[in-house]
Order: sequence, then C-alpha cells, then structure tokens
Amino acid sequence: MGDKYKRMVEKKHYLHSSIFHPTLRDWQSLKSELTPSNFMYPVFIIENDNEVQAIPSMPGISRYGINKLKEHLQNVISKGLTSILVFGVIDSLAKDEQATNADSSQNPVIKALPKLRAWFPNLVIACDVCLCPYSSHGHCAILSENGTIDNPKSIKRIADIALSYAKAGAHIVAPSDMMDGRIGAIKTLLIENNLQNNVAVLSYTCKFASNFYGPFRDAAKSKPSFGDRKCYQLPPAGEGVAIRAAARDVEEGADMLMIKPIMAYMDVLKQVNDKYPEYPMFVYQVSGEYSMIYNAAEKGIFDLKAALLEILQSYRRAGADIIITYYTPLILEWIQLKH
Ligand code: PBG
Ligand code: ZN
Repeated sequence: MGDKYKRMVEKKHYLHSSIFHPTLRDWQSLKSELTPSNFMYPVFIIENDNEVQAIPSMPGISRYGINKLKEHLQNVISKGLTSILVFGVIDSLAKDEQATNADSSQNPVIKALPKLRAWFPNLVIACDVCLCPYSSHGHCAILSENGTIDNPKSIKRIADIALSYAKAGAHIVAPSDMMDGRIGAIKTLLIENNLQNNVAVLSYTCKFASNFYGPFRDAAKSKPSFGDRKCYQLPPAGEGVAIRAAARDVEEGADMLMIKPIMAYMDVLKQVNDKYPEYPMFVYQVSGEYSMIYNAAEKGIFDLKAALLEILQSYRRAGADIIITYYTPLILEWIQLKH
C-alpha cells in the first residue's frame, strides 16, 4: 500500500512527459501565444513628408515623413501588422502654452490620418493624445500662472485634441497625459459629436513616472523644460494609487486599459487584469526598455530573438493581450516564419 501510494505520487510528478515534443510544449504555452494581433507598433511622424530621421537613442528606430512612412508600413503590414500607435513630432512649427499645434491643420498626425486610412483600410490607427510634444514648457498639461497644473483647462484641451484626431480618422484615441478626469471628458465630447460608436478610448491607465522614458523624450522632442512629471504620473511604488487609477478610468468609460512601462510593473498588470478581465489589457514596452534590451544583445549578454521572445511571453503570461513595442516589425518577421 505504501509503495503503491509512493508510485502514484511519483507518476504525477513526471513533468518531462508533458513537454518532450515541440507541439506538446506549444500546448503548454497557448495562453501566452504570440500572434500578429497581439502587437501594436508605435510610429513617429514628422513635418517633412519625404524625410527619414534616425533616432540615436533608439537604434534601429526612425521618425518618418508621411511618404516614407507609407513605404515602411507597407512592408510591415505585409508581415501581418494590424495596428499602430501614432506620435507627432514637430521642429519648425511653434510650441506654445496651449499646445496649439497638437491639432492644428499643420500637425503631422492630423495631416497623415486621412492618408493612412485611405492607403491601409484594414490597419487600426491609435493616436497618442498629449500636450508635451507641442507645449512650450514640455509638460503634459496646461499650466496656471504659478506653474502648477490647471486641471479643468487641461482636460478640456486634451478632449479637444482627441476629438480632432477622431474626426481626422483615428480609430482609437489614447491619452497619455495623466490628468484627472480626462477619460470622462473625452468620452463626453465624443458622444456629443456622435462619435461614440466608432472611436475607442485606450487609457494609459497605470502610467508611472518612470526612468525608462528617456529615449522617447529625445525621439518626440518632448522633454519638460523644468521640473518633472511626478505630480501627474504615478509613483513607481504606488500600488494602491495605480489600482485606484484603473478603477477610476473604468468608471469614466475607458474601452481598453494600459500598463506602462511593463518590465518593472508586471504585478500591477496581473492585479488590474485579475480585477478587470473584461477589458483588453495593453502593455507598453517603452523606449528605455527597447534600448536596454537592444544594447544588452549588442554586448553579447543574450541572443536578441531568444531573450525578447522570452520577455514577450512573460507579458502575455501575466495577462497582457496587446503589447505595444518598437520591436514589432522584427517580431512579426519571427512569428510569421514560425507559422
Ligand atoms: C508623452 C508620452 C511618453 C511616452 C508616451 N507618451 C513620455 C512621457 O511621459 O514623458 C513614453 C513612451 C516611451 O518611452 O516609449 N506623454
Ligand atoms: Zn505628455
């Protein structure tokens, strides 16, 4: 009896029998599978339609004028790309207190949207909504005279910009500013303009005041000219306030939720996903994470493909549905070859 019991327990403890074949290993991993629709590709659009600018802080990534972006996207779409996240970057257009050029007729995103919709009818287009690339001070808000945030004015401006992008053709507006009440303000304005049925709001819900945004601020030319963003982005150790942010954005009508960055915040992803399994969960592998992994591979610490796939699967395993990553073109190439 004792021996028999021992053999039974032993039998259950054989794991190799579950994973000895590549297909059996795939079966163990299907919940964390990587398919093309799991990825969203961030792109930077500049004023000059025919220019490509390499971004030194993000090796392999460029800013594109719309005509160059067309060629680039054609190539990535042929590999399975389904969605992009668009950022505008300005050089010669003016930056002011109101971030006027965030949605002026000259704004590169406003100009690009109708073209992208016409060229790529199946591509889902999300637009980052923020003031920092267009404001004279580089903050994500409208400031009052003493330099603090004017929250009512800020969310009104953010909602106006979101509406402009929606009218120009965005399927998704994604406010990254972190002002209080922005999701509600955007939703209300979209409803007032009868766009409630065909524009989604993707909230940068748990966006932390992180050290990993440095390369992006070079890329988007959006560095604050003074101070930091700690009074509006979440404190990295602030688990409670992050969970409250998710509850707040759900309550205000967000269609989809995002955790950003991801590598140091997977516990937050897991908690928010467990609490709101009804919502598609986005994670943003941000610029600093991109460059860190790139540079580690360059130094020979690991093989880029093997290590990156391991990292991406961990995000899926922790509950991410969609991964926003600058590596998307490369990943699509890899997973296309697999299928
Ligand atoms: C701007 C914005 C930032 C990112 C996306 N939108 C940077 C910031 O908050 O300063 C970060 C993206 C990245 O690092 O890749 N509100
Ligand atoms: Zn911003």
